[in-house]
Amino acid sequence: MDGNGRWAKQHGLPRVIGHRRGATALRHVVRACVQRQVQVLTVFAFSSENWHRPETEVKALMVLFMHSLRREVEKLHEAGVRLRFIGERGRFDNALRQKMEAAERLTADNSCMTMVIAVNYGGRWDLAQAARALAAEVSAGQLALDAVNEQALGKHVALADLPEPDLLIRSGGEQRISNFLLWQMAYTELYFTPTLWPDFRVDDLDLALTWFAERERRFGRVESTQPRVGHA
Ligand code: IPE
Ligand code: MG
Repeated sequence: MDGNGRWAKQHGLPRVIGHRRGATALRHVVRACVQRQVQVLTVFAFSSENWHRPETEVKALMVLFMHSLRREVEKLHEAGVRLRFIGERGRFDNALRQKMEAAERLTADNSCMTMVIAVNYGGRWDLAQAARALAAEVSAGQLALDAVNEQALGKHVALADLPEPDLLIRSGGEQRISNFLLWQMAYTELYFTPTLWPDFRVDDLDLALTWFAERERRFGRVESTQPRVGHA
């Protein structure tokens, strides 16, 4: 969800207003994904690199995050959404951590859609923590060194129990991955739009889904498979 800051600048507003408008855009996209029977929606809300922003902006983002959880969790629960958070939680304050855990507990049995919120997440962090988990198993004698392979590592990365992402949508015009789901996106279709995130509407989502439906997905093979968005 990129482009909040530029949107604010274009409108002569402080960056935090851009983030607020971004949260509103997300609310509509989440509802639309539920309606379109997307199984899993993962959003990159805050990266491990975002801590390097000015303190006032980081603070404002934390306040907005807490506020959005307070405002939305109950409604998402009613809509049958299961909430999950991925990333290093240790850096968030207690109140926020508790709120995240409570949201996960409350919505754990919902099955309409899984919404994953990546906060203080980085793809390299994810791979490092998976490697650490494997190393711990090896040193405890629970796993043979020869058994350290793609499958074993894949079990320890975030979202291991969910289908791999089918489609990545990046708003804001940059065409890069920016340390998002590096392992999980090996075969993800990449969709980039210049639309700034606060301007991203359900129509833009549908454009991306239509584009995805026209992809021929071969997964390194010769024959294609029928595209179907399970995880965006
Ligand atoms: C993305 O918008 C939102 C977050 C990273 C929280 P930006 O804040 O990166 O917006 P730009 O890239 O400065 O326009
Ligand atoms: Mg940005």
